[in-house]
Amino acid sequence: MRLSGRAEPNVFLTGATGVLGARILTDLLRDTDVNITCLVRASSITDAFCRLEKMLRVYDPDLTLADDLKCRVQPLIGDIAAAQFGLEKEDFFRLAAETEVVIHCAANTNLFGRLSTARAINVKGTHEVVNFTLATERRELLFVSTFTVMGDKTFDPDFTLREDDYDVGQEFPFMSYQQSKFEAEALVRQAGERGLNWQIVRPGQIFGDNTHGHYPQGETNVSGLFYDIFKTVIDTGVAFSSEVIFDVTPVDYVSKASIFFALKHRAFGETFHLTNPDERTYSEIIEMIRAYGYDIRFVSQDEYKVMLNERSLVAHGKEYRSATTQAFRCWFRHKSFDFSSSGRVDCSRARGILQRYEIHCKPVEDLIKVYLRRGIGSAHVPTLIQLDI
Ligand SMILES: NC(=O)c1ccc[n+]([C@@H]2O[C@H](COP(=O)([O-])OP(=O)(O)OC[C@H]3O[C@@H](n4cnc5c(N)ncnc54)[C@H](OP(=O)(O)O)[C@@H]3O)[C@@H](O)[C@H]2O)c1
Repeated sequence: MRLSGRAEPNVFLTGATGVLGARILTDLLRDTDVNITCLVRASSITDAFCRLEKMLRVYDPDLTLADDLKCRVQPLIGDIAAAQFGLEKEDFFRLAAETEVVIHCAANTNLFGRLSTARAINVKGTHEVVNFTLATERRELLFVSTFTVMGDKTFDPDFTLREDDYDVGQEFPFMSYQQSKFEAEALVRQAGERGLNWQIVRPGQIFGDNTHGHYPQGETNVSGLFYDIFKTVIDTGVAFSSEVIFDVTPVDYVSKASIFFALKHRAFGETFHLTNPDERTYSEIIEMIRAYGYDIRFVSQDEYKVMLNERSLVAHGKEYRSATTQAFRCWFRHKSFDFSSSGRVDCSRARGILQRYEIHCKPVEDLIKVYLRRGIGSAHVPTLIQLDI
């Protein structure tokens, strides 16, 4: 996406050492000519640079963009949750004067943490980013939210979250991350009254890229829970059946769409859902994996709960433990988490715009093939002789 006809803007990016932010950085380097300042938590500029380079390697394994990283990226040590990012006042305002567009991707993404911790970074941090953006001339902010701001409506089969929706009466029982992102969205929206030119994107469940399945397994704070769910099912040979829509969205779709909205579309005051339009249920996806020859037996949700409680989910004769077994053991304790069915996320506005610019998500079946091939390649999931992928 070369932006012809006007000078390339300077972009200020938060979260560039995370799953999505690192891909946004990679795509900004590959597809645009912008210069980027990345706010990074690090002990020194050298350390910050190394962290960015390590993440670049995830999505650009041959480091073809290494020179661009050196020439066009300025790492800046800071913390979004600190007043003025912990910078000297003078540096903060000089940076604002040099910035044209802000992409705020950093967040505490722990699904099981305390509300106070999530708020300290996601709400306070967004407050700092909003104030920073208001100090820039163009006041343009792309805020990365999440489709899970729908809170407990996630489990309501009669509910559809539309892109214009915000407060739909949702509640957040045991959903501190989701609640903090909802509250952060409120700050962004309200700042419109102070002249903030905001756009919000709400990604779905982020997986590896469309083509290679590149994803930072174990290199970020995110445990790769969505991957771990599949691995656990394959390793144990057991899955519970569920009509919950299980979103599978490739990271490059979210990244390219975010860059497009931030730099090109610039439809201020709008929200876009970056979920995969190919909606599949959890059971359908497990079926897709099973079709490759993996021996997977479906049980009811209740049977699965019992297996978890009795610790009878096994692999190679031993109790099986993973991020997934831990997560479900925790979720099943709360009545509000019922994985029988779910609400829907309508992404038609984003989809309608993005397809005109050839920014696409592969269908889930094709993505599963890419991810299985990659998982097998990295020995993350076991190979099957009959697997011809
Ligand atoms: N992953 C998903 O499936 C998903 C789905 C929907 C929405 N999202 C949203 O997408 C965004 C990116 O998520 P992600 O998956 O890339 O998360 P991630 O891998 O956990 O990365 C989070 C990023 O935020 C940075 N960060 C956290 N606290 C910070 C602080 N106090 N100061 C400065 N930087 C800080 C982290 O830096 P360190 O490396 O220093 O910790 C890291 O770069 C988030 O806003 C998230 O809510 C993600």
